[in-house]
Amino acid sequence: MGSVLVKNLHKQFSGVTALEDVNLEIREGEFFALLGPSGCGKTTTMRCIAGFETPTSGNIYIGDREVSKVPANQRNCGMVFQSYALFPHLTVAENVAYSLNIRRYEQGGIGSKLGVLAHMLNRRLGKMPKDVEQKVRDSLDFVELGHLADRLPGQLSGGQQQRVALARALIMEPAVLLMDEPLSNLDKKLRNSMRVTIRQIQQKIGITTIFVTHDQEEAMSMADRVAVMEGGKLVQVDTPTNLYSRPVSRFVADFVGSSNIYKGFVKNQGTEKGTLIQLSDQQLLYSAFDTTKSEVEIIIRPESIQLYEAGKEPEETGLLDGTITMSTYMGPSIRYDVQVGNLAFEVDKTYEGGMPLLSPGTSVKLAIEPERVVIL
Ligand SMILES: Nc1ncnc2c1ncn2[C@@H]1O[C@H](COP(=O)(O)OP(=O)(O)OP(=O)(O)O)[C@@H](O)[C@H]1O
Ligand SMILES: [Mg+2]
Repeated sequence: MGSVLVKNLHKQFSGVTALEDVNLEIREGEFFALLGPSGCGKTTTMRCIAGFETPTSGNIYIGDREVSKVPANQRNCGMVFQSYALFPHLTVAENVAYSLNIRRYEQGGIGSKLGVLAHMLNRRLGKMPKDVEQKVRDSLDFVELGHLADRLPGQLSGGQQQRVALARALIMEPAVLLMDEPLSNLDKKLRNSMRVTIRQIQQKIGITTIFVTHDQEEAMSMADRVAVMEGGKLVQVDTPTNLYSRPVSRFVADFVGSSNIYKGFVKNQGTEKGTLIQLSDQQLLYSAFDTTKSEVEIIIRPESIQLYEAGKEPEETGLLDGTITMSTYMGPSIRYDVQVGNLAFEVDKTYEGGMPLLSPGTSVKLAIEPERVVIL
């Protein structure tokens, strides 16, 4: 059973509160990301789950077993770190076999302890005990590194080293895989392909995975659910699509993508189109969401605004009048900066081949569906 339950976790370092009442319920087989800026407590949460850090208070369960007081090596967690942490003097195969050998050593009698030591001194894959060798081969094949078994880590690329680290964690058949910023040492292209590799491997074995990152794109593209952390607390735990479309706070909205955020007053509640909000400069917008507040902040994602050149807009009421101040070609889309009264809007429009960009100074009309105006 590889579910993970974290209850009321607090962690205090001398004078620093690193974690405050963190509660998580991670389902068996789930790919779960911890996302947040530097220092928000991601690594500390993971180290508490792994058993490398003792919580100040709180309980941790892996499956049905409470592990709060269980030593790290008995928690059945596999770890992968940002720095790979491979032994430079051991071959790829030996690195992968290492923890398996340690376990055989710890669990064996004196005879098998000596046997394990003797095998560990043998440097070649062909000289390992047959069952260890088979597992090493399987693990390396799994991460597509079977052909590099006899190389030293220094002779591998960063992505290959990270795959060795993954094979080393998986060979132990852990109940939970913990990964702390495993891709941040890689360049962008490799990072993107490793995202796919890790996700495919995770889905193939269905292992519960907790993945720490400060990169929102990484978390959103890989995880089933994402926990956003801020200053030692969880601020929202949700699916990537919900985090994006229904952020609970300005912090989350900003952290998981670019957005237009404005203050406004509630003019009217419960109309046919929802809540009527007045922005500064008298602009009026409808939001499909309810609120109990009279003063609100709203968020509108740039791609959820329709932009029409003035005169070409559909017959519709409630369009905003604006003027383009900047047009930026971004490949698949165009970013228009649009001034509406005293408010600046960012609008993303899908780029269709051959379409000329509207130039600064062009008068435009903006249409925003009430469902896309989210009240924070
Ligand atoms: N051993 C320690 N002693 C004292 N303070 C610590 C220790 N470890 C972490 N902290 C503090 O706890 C807070 C959370 O640290 P943590 O390493 O969990 O952050 P993080 O979210 O992983 O950040 P990063 O993205 O930079 O890795 C920080 O303020 C950090 O300085
Ligand atoms: Mg960290």
